[in-house]
Amino acid sequence: MDSKVTGARVLLCVSGGIAAYKAAALTSTLVQRGAVVDVAMTAHAERFVTALTFSALTARPVYTTLWDAPEQIPHIRLVRQAQVALLAPATANMIAKLAYGIADDLVSTLLLAARIPVLIAPAMNEAMYEDAATQANLAILRARGYELIEPERGFLAEREYGTGRLAGEERILAALDVALLRSRSLAGKRVLITAGPTREAFDPVRFISNASTGAMGIALAREARARGAEVTLILGPTLLEPPGDVATVRVTTACRMHDAALAQGESDLIIATAAVADWRPAETSPSKRKKGDEDLVVRMVRNPDVLAALAARRRAFVVGFAAETDDHEPAARAKCAQKGLDAIAVNDVSGERGFGLGENALVLLWGQDGRLDLGRASKPVLAARLLDEVGVLMAARHGEA
Ligand code: CTP
Repeated sequence: MDSKVTGARVLLCVSGGIAAYKAAALTSTLVQRGAVVDVAMTAHAERFVTALTFSALTARPVYTTLWDAPEQIPHIRLVRQAQVALLAPATANMIAKLAYGIADDLVSTLLLAARIPVLIAPAMNEAMYEDAATQANLAILRARGYELIEPERGFLAEREYGTGRLAGEERILAALDVALLRSRSLAGKRVLITAGPTREAFDPVRFISNASTGAMGIALAREARARGAEVTLILGPTLLEPPGDVATVRVTTACRMHDAALAQGESDLIIATAAVADWRPAETSPSKRKKGDEDLVVRMVRNPDVLAALAARRRAFVVGFAAETDDHEPAARAKCAQKGLDAIAVNDVSGERGFGLGENALVLLWGQDGRLDLGRASKPVLAARLLDEVGVLMAARHGEA
């Protein structure tokens, strides 16, 4: 059977509902399809099915507490080893904990520490599922990029008919396939990302810069890495920390960013999120300028365009970013054509929107009239949506070649 789960490492988290018995059947199917399954369960789940059931099915240890082998830090190790995590069944309580970042047992701690795709398959009584609190919590999780596998209508444990049955095995397996496909979508690809502002000094303590924090580029670097790419990040000055497993070159000025980017070998994908200063002072004073009563006039000269230089030199798929305050899309399309890009992501930066750690809203444009609204969401969620679509566009271009 051709399934993406063959050979995959799956972390199955089981929380305490009657549907926990179905998680055992699902484990058996995953094992039969060749997945390596680690199971973590809550104390309530253990009331319904024993850990022994899962360890017999997986021929692996089952994890039920944070305190068994603390020297192995199981909550970090397990999520680092897995390619995908699945919470099935997800109780209303576990959904609420995840939505609020509560980490008071092994399963909630694992899921909070997860940087891999997390799939959530709720199962509960219809009244609990439809309760406004549960629906609000699910909306929070959806907005944060968790994949929800909606429950089904049918016979419930309470001998009632309603919505709340755990999704069928085939739907869960299909969702796992999609998540695994995505988690390897950039395997073996080299990705170059520019991020952050640049600083153009006119004396040793003063410079011209902008409000960019590099958050979007860092989110893209992390997401590309999670999808198996070898990522190089050329990062301007920012207090944000780049991901540890991404090769990062720190630069300060636009000229240095240009040189560092062009010094990299061939890439498959280039994404330029950096807010590069377009001008630099013609002269930099070697010592601090003393103020007098007169005005200061600083002559500015043009900086190199890092992205245009990369696009001209390389065969990579090239994605630019356009920060616009007016007439967003036509201006961005013009920029895309002028710099020789394959696609451009537009964000509206009027009123400082788009900068910092908050939400952003992006529209991706390509070709004559290609357009996809990536919506308003956190930067990590937008990074995943952008890479999904870029993957499709790269594959289409590859098919044409
Ligand atoms: N860019 C770059 N080097 C520059 C200027 C811009 O690499 N010197 C890249 C940015 O990283 C972004 C894209 O070009 O991917 C578009 O940048 P934008 O901020 O929209 O500005 P400009 O293209 O310079 O156009 P303008 O400032 O006139 O709007």
